[in-house]
Amino acid sequence: MISDSPVPAVVPPGRMARNPQPVLGLPRGFELRPWRPDDADALLAAGQDPAIRRWNLLHVDSTEAARRRIERMHRRRQAEESAIWAIARTGGEAIGLIGWGDLDLRGGSAEIVYWVLPPARGNGVMVEAVRRLSQWALDDLGLHRLRLCHSVANPASCRVAVKAGYSLEGTMRSALLHADGWHDQHLHALVQGDI
Ligand SMILES: CC(C)(COP(=O)(O)OP(=O)(O)OC[C@H]1O[C@@H](n2cnc3c(N)ncnc32)[C@H](O)[C@@H]1OP(=O)(O)O)[C@@H](O)C(=O)NCCC(=O)NCCS
Repeated sequence: MISDSPVPAVVPPGRMARNPQPVLGLPRGFELRPWRPDDADALLAAGQDPAIRRWNLLHVDSTEAARRRIERMHRRRQAEESAIWAIARTGGEAIGLIGWGDLDLRGGSAEIVYWVLPPARGNGVMVEAVRRLSQWALDDLGLHRLRLCHSVANPASCRVAVKAGYSLEGTMRSALLHADGWHDQHLHALVQGDI
């Protein structure tokens, strides 16, 4: 803890953890809500999907491992290290994941992560989810700068970024090690005042 910094924390510690994780409504009958233990099968299905394994580096190979991951999501949110939501039909099962990793409340930044299960792809729900969660992070949590990074070989994720309002700032060379080697990544960002 830096107590004598001349720069105050952008978001004071505790602001996220002391409030319950909100449910955020989306258009067309979807919502973002906390992951529940009974979502373990959706997380296991994600762990079997080649695109999610490839691009999100997700490895979940049993229901028990999925349950442990869901518990860890809640522990990490309480520690203000990350904040992860399920994308679901209102009152229904999880069809995707979205949230903030690399969360730096003091510095006011975070990186968005997401995936949607194959049957739910192709209808624009992720663009709506990214817009809604970004609005929450800027307006309600009070972050200043949101990052969205994806491999240059993942054009669908690039379209989601641009359609959700994240400007392309450049290409980070050899930024992430995937199963087939190092990938360059696009860096997109959304900053307070952009929307
Ligand atoms: C990336 C992902 C979240 C996008 O969700 P989606 O439901 O497939 O997205 P949509 O179908 O709404 O498409 C979004 C845009 O991408 C475009 N798109 C989709 N697949 C594409 C592809 N293979 N190549 C180029 N563009 C593509 C769509 O045409 C659409 O653009 P448009 O509205 O201008 O036509 C989803 O495909 C996914 O979970 N993929 C696997 C994991 C992943 O890539 N995670 C992100 C890691 S950074």
